Amino acid sequence: MDKPKVFLTRCIAEPAMQQLYQAVDLEVWEDENPPSHAAILARAAEVDGLMTLLTDPIDRPVLEALAKKGKVISQMSVGFDNIDIATATRLKIPVGHTPGVLTETTADFAWALIMAASRRVVEADQEVHRGIWRHWGPGILLGLELTGATLGIIGFGRIGQAVARRAAGFNMRVLYYNPHRRPELEKSLGVTYTPLDDLLAQSDIVTLHSYLSDETRHLFGRANFEKMKPSAILINTARGQMVDPQDLLWALENKKLGAAALDVFDPEPIPAGHPLLRMPNVIVTPHIASATTQTRIRMAIMAVENLQAGLKGERLPYCANPQVYAK
Ligand code: DGY
Repeated sequence: MDKPKVFLTRCIAEPAMQQLYQAVDLEVWEDENPPSHAAILARAAEVDGLMTLLTDPIDRPVLEALAKKGKVISQMSVGFDNIDIATATRLKIPVGHTPGVLTETTADFAWALIMAASRRVVEADQEVHRGIWRHWGPGILLGLELTGATLGIIGFGRIGQAVARRAAGFNMRVLYYNPHRRPELEKSLGVTYTPLDDLLAQSDIVTLHSYLSDETRHLFGRANFEKMKPSAILINTARGQMVDPQDLLWALENKKLGAAALDVFDPEPIPAGHPLLRMPNVIVTPHIASATTQTRIRMAIMAVENLQAGLKGERLPYCANPQVYAK
């Protein structure tokens, strides 16, 4: 029997590649850069399954082409805002994703940014690399002391909770905001539910861990920057579109905000020469919060499990649109 045809939009971890080569007739996009929309569209009509990454635009035309014979999309990420989920569901295409396996890694990286921004690690390192070693001085490169500071977590799903667990070691006051209050977690994690405006007013550091939705898109614009402490630090490891980049620039230039550390940006990649890149109090990394070898292997294997289930017509173990199975 012929193996099912699959288009994979980038090389993924080796153990997953081996499984794929055994099980399916695989075409891989070998480039490090994502395939264009046209390249994905051209393959979509010919395959039984698509394996995608969050950089791939999976819109209605791609989904309609895939629906001709395709049975599944398996995406190697927890977020799936690049996929038109409503159309996939209407066309009865299940979409797989990879929740859970990147929680700890992403929380670690949020903390890497919290510490780097609060203690000005990147700025200090860049000075030394440029040959500037300022002698020890009482006022040189002073940062924010984390002990006793207030951390505001926006979005209290798996990753937000993992960030809170790590805060315990720093003896911080931890506030969280989430559309649904999580009273069962408050005592064990030592966190306090706080309405958004109060959290913004009280936090020294605000870290974002929500899904992208109509409610969270450009949640951080002028109005909310105005509510924050002028010394506050904004950390974003969630989705770039949660922060309006023009308003962020305005907030930093007008001293409404102390610093920002961004692993995600709107758009990605950040345009070369963007004015934020000239600011010493801005750290930007290229969407690497889940980038550890171990996590990327787990994500890839999980994505293969979803793909294989979908190709067999079985329910995906990790499905982003379970409503697709509604009778
Ligand atoms: C995700 O999985 O959605 C992250 O943004 C990248 O790992």
